Amino acid sequence: MELSRRKMLLSSGALGAFGALSAMSQVQARVADWTWAPSGSVAGTGAGVDPRWVWDAEADPVAAALLDRGDVPEVNRLLWDWNHNDQPLPAGLPTDLRDFMERARQLPSWADQGKLNAAAEFNKSRGLYLNLLNGIGGGMLSTAIPKEALSVYYSKGGADMEDRVAKTSILGFAVGALDAYQPKGNCVVNAVKTRLVHAAVRHLLPQSPHWKGAVPISQEDMLVTWHTLPTFAMRKMLEWKVPIKPAESVAYLHVWQVTAHLLGIRDEYIPATWADANAQSDQVLPPNMGPTREGVELTDILLDQLAEQTSLGTKISRPLCNALGRYLAGDQVADWDGIPREPVWDPAIKTAWPTLVKFREGLIPKPLVPEVAWVIDEAARQYILFYLTKGKETKIDIPTINRPS
Ligand code: HEM
Repeated sequence: MELSRRKMLLSSGALGAFGALSAMSQVQARVADWTWAPSGSVAGTGAGVDPRWVWDAEADPVAAALLDRGDVPEVNRLLWDWNHNDQPLPAGLPTDLRDFMERARQLPSWADQGKLNAAAEFNKSRGLYLNLLNGIGGGMLSTAIPKEALSVYYSKGGADMEDRVAKTSILGFAVGALDAYQPKGNCVVNAVKTRLVHAAVRHLLPQSPHWKGAVPISQEDMLVTWHTLPTFAMRKMLEWKVPIKPAESVAYLHVWQVTAHLLGIRDEYIPATWADANAQSDQVLPPNMGPTREGVELTDILLDQLAEQTSLGTKISRPLCNALGRYLAGDQVADWDGIPREPVWDPAIKTAWPTLVKFREGLIPKPLVPEVAWVIDEAARQYILFYLTKGKETKIDIPTINRPS
């Protein structure tokens, strides 16, 4: 992709001075001691070890052994047709992998089907907000997390962001599906596959000439990203005054707690309540966020892709997407991501979006919704549909290489 002038300026100027590595060391330097208590976790107890130095003791050796033995292509072939939560694992998997997967696919003892079903209903009724917040909002946040931006950039998927986003959206849609954790759903399958992808990345990335620093995707990194999904979405919906019943709020947290467990986050770090989640988010997010050259480039690619999905014509769509990204992620993150300010669209979205929410929630009549809100609504729908379709064409599989160039 052609580097835009803006991006060149950003990467060679103010941000270039930071450089990816110094951004990383700043992040490390600013991290305070881990004080979040395991009493606030779903486990209710734990050693309270700093999750920066904990990875995935069960999945990591298995993925490393698969890669070292050259088993991954065959494993990916066998797992291609493993699609449903209740489906037996395919025959022929290496024994260490099979043993791991049989354990990893079990729902935790604290999983509550009633809450999972309620969460599915909530995900359906609030689908538009959640897809926008998790897809576009979460996307913009993730590129402003230096360790995540660098991991994504220098891993295989960094060279093909369309495929990468399509694959990531598979899990997003799986969590939001009505049958997410039902026998014929696929959330367990995709979470376990993702856990293996992350374990493979921990083995592969340290071999990249571009990678300097600790093994990627620590438990803390997982928590940081997790908070950019449910915690961020819940905070935003509350900010937008979306009416949410207490049981819906508890259920929505629960489906993400179960997903965190299946992704390999240890129970002693998974927040038990929204109060615990908010406290943990406030502890882990700020010191782990900031600008990188790679994050700016990834943001630009993501916003270009988003603009291409909306059939509004290029003149409208990229500025609209910039404004949408800024509105969802907030000014601080948008500035770190190098999202340009849009003098027309930024204020338009700020006024139009809250009225659209009020209309959708039955709080105001249609004539009070400004015209521009429908353009945003339509753009959001097209974006969601596009990734829903793209996600159907591909599957999550274990990488064997880093970014090739
Ligand atoms: C892959 C989701 C945390 C870096 C994936 C995939 C999904 C996913 C669904 C598979 C898609 C693919 O293969 O491209 C999540 C979720 C997370 C999380 C839900 C937390 C709740 C993280 C963190 C990092 C990270 C914290 C880095 C700091 C990566 C990388 C890949 C990946 C590098 C593989 C890219 C590739 O080789 O193509 N993640 N992720 N993820 N994730 Fe995560």
